[in-house]
Amino acid sequence: MQKLSSNADWATRARAVLPGGGFGNFDPSVFIKSGSGARVIDEDGREYVDYLIGSGPMLLGHDNAEVLEAIYETLPRGLTFFANNATAIELAEEICRAVPGGEQLRYVSSGGEADMYAMRLARAYTGRDKIVKFEGGYHGMSAEAQMSLAPEKRANFPQAIPDSAGIPPSVAAEMLIAPFNDFDYIRSLMAEWGPKVAAIIVEPLQRIIPPLPGYLQLLREEADKYGCLLVFDEVVTGFRLSYGGAQELYCVTPDITTLGKAIGGGFPLAALVASAEIMAHFDKTQVGAEGWLMQLGTLSGNPVAAAAGLKTLEILRRDGQYDTLRANGQRVMNMTRTALDATGFGYEIVGDPTLFEVVFTDAPVRDYRDVQSSNTARATAYNETLRQEGIFKAAGKTYPSLPLTEGDFAITEAAIQKAAADLT
Ligand SMILES: Cc1ncc(COP(=O)(O)O)c(C=O)c1O
Repeated sequence: MQKLSSNADWATRARAVLPGGGFGNFDPSVFIKSGSGARVIDEDGREYVDYLIGSGPMLLGHDNAEVLEAIYETLPRGLTFFANNATAIELAEEICRAVPGGEQLRYVSSGGEADMYAMRLARAYTGRDKIVKFEGGYHGMSAEAQMSLAPEKRANFPQAIPDSAGIPPSVAAEMLIAPFNDFDYIRSLMAEWGPKVAAIIVEPLQRIIPPLPGYLQLLREEADKYGCLLVFDEVVTGFRLSYGGAQELYCVTPDITTLGKAIGGGFPLAALVASAEIMAHFDKTQVGAEGWLMQLGTLSGNPVAAAAGLKTLEILRRDGQYDTLRANGQRVMNMTRTALDATGFGYEIVGDPTLFEVVFTDAPVRDYRDVQSSNTARATAYNETLRQEGIFKAAGKTYPSLPLTEGDFAITEAAIQKAAADLT
């Protein structure tokens, strides 16, 4: 009899061809065979309710019929051209309409690339080199973004600590690291360095941590005061917190916005969006060789990705979608609260109903260090039981989605109750 492939079989094969046996992004012992709605099935045949949803993009679930139809419809016309195509222009128009700070965009293939170009663009526009980044803020894998992303040791602000080997110290020297949500710190940092700062780059909701009231407004004011650009990394929050992203929800408009995940409908497509004046730096005819940023990519504006993204956005625009997404997230938050209240352990559910996580702590969670000093061993145990009980999620984030069903909620509630009851 032919041996069925299992997670374990694939893990053996993966270890031979992949360093660490994985793609670097998730637990390499699980191999996802398929997904449908808000569920995924692994190579052992185990089904999970999926709160990872591709690390964010699959807001509409894994097999939305309309998105699939849009993809099938475009496939016979060709897969990629390295040339302008109408679908990607339509998607660009829609993104610029949706994002308050957007007039023009440039496509790239990943959120990390969008962030890398956003920082470079700010440097080109201002003629300055320093970038302010927040400790624990995630902006992809560029050398700049690797500064104080998840530092284990505490350095004095604003010293940047690389979280990756292979980065020259000269990169760290141009980065200024600040604690998120600290009003006084950013004021004093900008008072000292403001005239040399090209950009303040921030996740408007940092990983799961919401901005304190007025904090994003303060960043806007400080950027304006010193003539630097405010970059909102909305790779996660774009088209999730609301259709217009975090900037619409929190009523603060950045100079540059980076987007990914949802706008590609599950395909590798990301973008940076800004005013035409700022984006002129991608056009040599407007700014000359001195001010020009060379930027291109083989798959930029890929028509299949654009078709999936365009249909995804069309569906998200329909009445009630964000009410449903919020209600779905709120429901999981409420069941979590009920289960954890019964344990007596200190915890906070940090985030927004569209994106959140439990942090085991007795203190408010305002920045990276608050999460770092929480009871992470308890969080690990909690997440492990959730996985055993059929919940698929990353440590540190819960991504609700639109297609969650009553059946999915029932499994989720039982899993949360068990995970809470097993805590020590
Ligand atoms: C806030 C944020 N920025 C940038 C990125 C990088 O996006 P990508 O993985 O598409 O490079 C991510 C990825 O999760 C992210 O969460």
